[in-house]
Amino acid sequence: MKPPSAPQTWQTVFGTFKLSRYPAQNGDKQLAWSAADDLLLDEVARLDVSGSQVLVVNDPHGALCVALQPAALWTDSALSALALKHNAHINHRIETPVVWSTDSPLSAKIEAPNVIVLRVPKHLSFFEHQLTILARELPVGTTVLAAGMDKHLSSHTATILERCIGPTQRFPGRRKARLFSAQIAARPADEGLPRAAYYCEPIKDSLQSLPNVFSKDKLDRGSRLLMEQFPTLASARTVIDLACGNGVLGLTAFKLGLARALVFCDESAMAVRSAQLNATQCFPEDVHKFSFHHGDGLRMYSGELAELILCNPPFHLDHTVDACLGSHLLQHCGQRLSPDGRLCLVGNRHLNYGDELAHTFNRVEKIASNSKFNVFLAHKY
Ligand SMILES: C[S@@+](CC[C@H](N)C(=O)[O-])C[C@H]1O[C@@H](n2cnc3c(N)ncnc32)[C@H](O)[C@@H]1O
Repeated sequence: MKPPSAPQTWQTVFGTFKLSRYPAQNGDKQLAWSAADDLLLDEVARLDVSGSQVLVVNDPHGALCVALQPAALWTDSALSALALKHNAHINHRIETPVVWSTDSPLSAKIEAPNVIVLRVPKHLSFFEHQLTILARELPVGTTVLAAGMDKHLSSHTATILERCIGPTQRFPGRRKARLFSAQIAARPADEGLPRAAYYCEPIKDSLQSLPNVFSKDKLDRGSRLLMEQFPTLASARTVIDLACGNGVLGLTAFKLGLARALVFCDESAMAVRSAQLNATQCFPEDVHKFSFHHGDGLRMYSGELAELILCNPPFHLDHTVDACLGSHLLQHCGQRLSPDGRLCLVGNRHLNYGDELAHTFNRVEKIASNSKFNVFLAHKY
């Protein structure tokens, strides 16, 4: 397993901390915090609120939580929760309670916070979703501080804050980062949250996705090429849909009779919940054949060994594009396969998955390709 990156020192108004990224990417060059985090901390210090009055939202490597020691972290990401655990430990800080994005931000039984400290996420639909829930569940007057790096922020960030939260103050940019402060003006009507969906031809049903899920409204082209190979694969008792997103690969394998039992796994809480919703919707009679694992790949998976793992690995996490993310995921696969187990994976042609798989698998075949993707079948023995 790739270790967290070597810790680097971060000086803030709340003290000096050593922070690592998890998983480590591109050596140790990237930092586990950004100038957007500095803006947020400086504003919390100016408002003079204590950590117990703060809810942190989206904290990629736990930097804000280590510094602020807030009441809770509300996040979609199991990787962020692992980064926070590690960084809290090395700094001898209290481990902030984690509330998943699929639960109410107040479900950690915390008092309603006075200040929300939020890193603007990549997907605007997820940002809007989070703001709508915050406005619905927190008292009118609660302050929402939101920040991001200029290169990642949309020109609509302030407008979205204004629409979902209330009057918004725009602060001058500093070190290529920007801060906004908004006050919850009114409680929005409880209308239920929109879910993206598309019709998936092989399953003959539509698949829904919660806001932070990959390829919410159309089948990804890499996933399509991988699915086209399913009829050529021998069927398996247990199949793992690794990095499952909305569950499209596993559910298609089940529909085609390739899988008798399925495990869906993703680091995103919304992905795992979407796969769960889709499995129940598409195969209501078979729900006992499906299980779900929210975590860093198969690192903590202790269920049945699989005969087949299906995977369209990630190549970016939030704003970071990095081939290492896929490699990180593959490191756990070998130990979770039965002796005759296989991994079937699709990857962008420019990423060298063939060589990478050859290090850990006995035999690797390229079974399909097109102008953009390769599909590999790797045999454990
Ligand atoms: C390219 S998408 C594939 C989604 C889905 N299988 C599909 O074909 O539409 C990659 C997925 O990997 C997930 N992911 C990224 N890093 C992960 C990790 N360390 N462990 C588990 N899932 C991860 C992302 O949340 C995302 O859902």
